[in-house]
Amino acid sequence: MKTENIRNFSIIAHIDHGKSTLADRILELTGMVSDRDKKDQYLDKMELERERGITIKAQTVRIPYKAADGQEYVLNLIDTPGHVDFSYEVSRSLAACEGALLVVDATQGVEAQTLANVYLALDNDLEVIPVLNKIDLPSADTEAIAAEIEEVIGLDCSDSLHVSAKTGLNVDKVVEAVIEQLPAPEGSADAPLKALIFDSWYDSYQGVVVLFRILEGTLKKGDTIRIFSTGKDFDVTRLGAFCPEPADFKTMGPGEVGFMCASMKELGDAPVGDTITHAERPTSEAFPGFKPVKPMVFAGLYPIEPSEYETLKAALEKLQLNDAAFTYEPETSQALGFGFRCGFLGLLHIEIIQERLEREFDAKLITTAPSVVYKVDTVDGESLVIDNPSKLPDPTRIEAIHEPYVRMDIHVPNEYVGPVLALCEEKRGIQKNMGYLTPTRVMITYEIPFAEVMYDFFDKLKSSTKGYASLDYEIIDYRQADMVKLDILINGDPVDAFSCIVHRENSARQGRSIALKLKRSIPRQMFEVVIQAAIGRKIVAKERNAPFRKDVTAKCYGGDITRKRKLLEKQKEGKKRMRRMGNVEIPQEAFLAVLKAD
Ligand code: GTP
Repeated sequence: MKTENIRNFSIIAHIDHGKSTLADRILELTGMVSDRDKKDQYLDKMELERERGITIKAQTVRIPYKAADGQEYVLNLIDTPGHVDFSYEVSRSLAACEGALLVVDATQGVEAQTLANVYLALDNDLEVIPVLNKIDLPSADTEAIAAEIEEVIGLDCSDSLHVSAKTGLNVDKVVEAVIEQLPAPEGSADAPLKALIFDSWYDSYQGVVVLFRILEGTLKKGDTIRIFSTGKDFDVTRLGAFCPEPADFKTMGPGEVGFMCASMKELGDAPVGDTITHAERPTSEAFPGFKPVKPMVFAGLYPIEPSEYETLKAALEKLQLNDAAFTYEPETSQALGFGFRCGFLGLLHIEIIQERLEREFDAKLITTAPSVVYKVDTVDGESLVIDNPSKLPDPTRIEAIHEPYVRMDIHVPNEYVGPVLALCEEKRGIQKNMGYLTPTRVMITYEIPFAEVMYDFFDKLKSSTKGYASLDYEIIDYRQADMVKLDILINGDPVDAFSCIVHRENSARQGRSIALKLKRSIPRQMFEVVIQAAIGRKIVAKERNAPFRKDVTAKCYGGDITRKRKLLEKQKEGKKRMRRMGNVEIPQEAFLAVLKAD
């Protein structure tokens, strides 16, 4: 394919502004999805994604298209995820494109992630076409939103596209704009091969599947390729593109986007961001690469039945093959026994992994409260990285604790500025900037400890602004803070899985709140259960549950045996996600009570 007739583009948007819906309409319009197998949100491949309506793994589709100018084009639509937890994937996908469609909901306007995504696009030197979506809705105000885009982002909106991804109105104009307004890729077919790996995953039949974009040179099936960073060579066994089903190609040239299999056994054989070249005539210069993703949030995953440890291990191993941002290693908890310390990008990532483990691998788990990573200097001059609060050294050994901070941009209508500032201050935030984006919308910038925003910040922000606020954040640095370990004791024994690291100022309040939440979530037992929160040796809170056994069959008088059995079954069901600690039964909710403490 001649490079002049190729267009590589992504769709970027704030969450829910209609990115996936627009992608679906483009695929329909270009005949990529027949009515028969038309499923909403074709690009969201995994069942889980379809249910949640979010995109986790970037997908690409190669679309042959005959344009109004009579010429045949190939459009490569490279999908990007929409959630802040996955912004690194957005950035990678954009590196494979020349342009992006910026979808803005015409009833909402520019939101925090609209801006964050535009910045990522501009960092990658992309041409950006604004698309105002949802114009079928009566509250759409295209004129005002176009003015907002011009003012806030600086994009010319004089003849911007006004579409309804829902009804398909003007989607044809979007496709024509891609051809007319986005630049074609450049690069010589005769130059040494230089291709960028922008995604890869493990497939049990094919081995590692690599998504790549050729910058220069030509790649053929059967070629011996070399991975630039590792110097390892592989033979290309399969070359192709998703149309949207996989289709095989013999050769691909500059500007083209496709997939490749080369008997690679592990994801490390094809690191995302790396450069593919030929073993025989290698390129001298690699693509600059991406920042490696590092898990930022850690939690313990424990099997409910200790005998399921090996099964859980096998499941984690499989999941990790497909998700380089997810890590795990064995750990032992006094309370929970053998399990794993797992690293994630954020809370949504934890939820997704947990759901996949339960759904695809039938694993029954206890997840402990997630924690950020702390850096600790000890009095003996050691530097420790602590991803599990129970591992925090004794206070007498600690010289200083450093915690991660994020820079956060919040967009909000001006009437909600007060509650947003109050929330940020409560979360130990430091205000950095505040300014009007438009006469009615304000952007507020704060630097806030990541631990404070990780849990319930988003929910609180939504409820205090009636859902009108949006946010974006990135981790910036580590700062020293006066943190202490809060321990929880059940009937006098510390339960390591409940330990958390909190700011000293809030520690007593948090201790009381957690103790109360635990009292409520731990069912009464046949004996008294005493729950205490302690900082060092000092008890800061104490709650007790009086003895009691919920005899669910008491009312059945021994008469109706089937009813009795049903009730007992039900009680067993309720016990499923519980762990026995000493002789106290503790349900999963209790482990997360730590999170919801105010
Ligand atoms: P993520 O994949 O979660 O990032 O969201 P998205 O930006 O892809 O949004 P999605 O396409 O899932 O659309 C969000 C919601 O808006 C869905 O309920 C869509 O049906 C709806 N929607 C999308 N486009 C339009 C439109 O043009 N008009 C109307 N009325 N609704 C739309």
